[in-house]
Amino acid sequence: MTRILHFVKKPETRKYNIQNIDFELDINEHTFPPSPHGSFFAENMKINPGETVIDIGTGSGFLGILAAKLGGNVSATDNDTDALNLAKQNAKKNKVNIDFQKGSYFADYKKKFDIIVVNLPQEIVHIDYQKAIGKQLTESFDGGPDGNKQILEFLDLAKPYMYNKSKIYIIIYTVTDYTKTLKKMIENYNTKLIAFDSGPTKEFVEDNIKFYKELNEAGKIKIFKSNKKWMAHEYLFELTLK
Ligand SMILES: C[S@@+](CC[C@H](N)C(=O)[O-])C[C@H]1O[C@@H](n2cnc3c(N)ncnc32)[C@H](O)[C@@H]1O
Repeated sequence: MTRILHFVKKPETRKYNIQNIDFELDINEHTFPPSPHGSFFAENMKINPGETVIDIGTGSGFLGILAAKLGGNVSATDNDTDALNLAKQNAKKNKVNIDFQKGSYFADYKKKFDIIVVNLPQEIVHIDYQKAIGKQLTESFDGGPDGNKQILEFLDLAKPYMYNKSKIYIIIYTVTDYTKTLKKMIENYNTKLIAFDSGPTKEFVEDNIKFYKELNEAGKIKIFKSNKKWMAHEYLFELTLK
C-alpha cells in the first residue's frame, strides 16, 4: 500500500501565521497543498510595499497571497487550471488583488518585475507514488528523473523579466540533483544564500528508501536520518543579475 499523506482527499481550510500575517487558504484534492518547505520559503522571502512581484507556479496561491499582504503588487501564474482557480478563490477569501495568468513560467507577461518568487516542482518522485496520486498531482511537484527540470528551464528564461536590481527568491531542495541546479545558478546569477533548513522528507522517500539511498550514495541527492526520520536540506537563495 502506498501511503498518501501530503495530499488531501477532500477540501479543507488551513490557517497560517507567517511574517506576523494571518491568512487562511482553502486546499483541495486537485492542487498541491503548501508544504513545510513552502512555509520556510514564505518565512524568509522579503517583499517591500509597492514592489512588483510575480509568483511562478502559485498552486493554492500561498506565496502570492502572502506577498500581496506584505504590500506587493502581485501577478501570479500556474500552468494548471484547477490550481489557478483555487488561487483565485484564495485571493478573494483573503481580500487581496492578484493578477493571474494561466501558463508556463511567465505565461504571457512581457514586463519586468522587482521580485520573482519561484517554488516550482522540485522532487524526484518515486514511480509508485506517481501512480498512486495520478498525473495532475504528480505534475504539481515532480521535477523529472533529476528533480530539477522546471527549475533549470526557469533559470534559462528569467533574465529578460528582471531589472538590474530585481531579485529572484528560489529554493533548492536536496531530494533532487541539487548540485547541478546550484552550479547553473552560480554560473548565471549573483547567488546569495538567504536561509537554510532541514526537514522530514515526504512519505514516499521512507516507503521507497532503497531507491533513494542509492541516489544518495551516488551523490545525486542528499538525505540523512535524524530521530528515526529521513530528512533533506532546503536552501533559499536570492539571485540578482550579474
Ligand atoms: C510544488 S507546487 C508549489 C505551489 C506553491 N508555489 C506553494 O509554494 O505552495 C508547484 C506549482 O507549480 C505549478 N507548475 C508546474 N510546472 C509549471 C510551469 N512550467 N509553469 C507554471 N507553473 C507550473 C504546479 O501546477 C504547482 O501548482
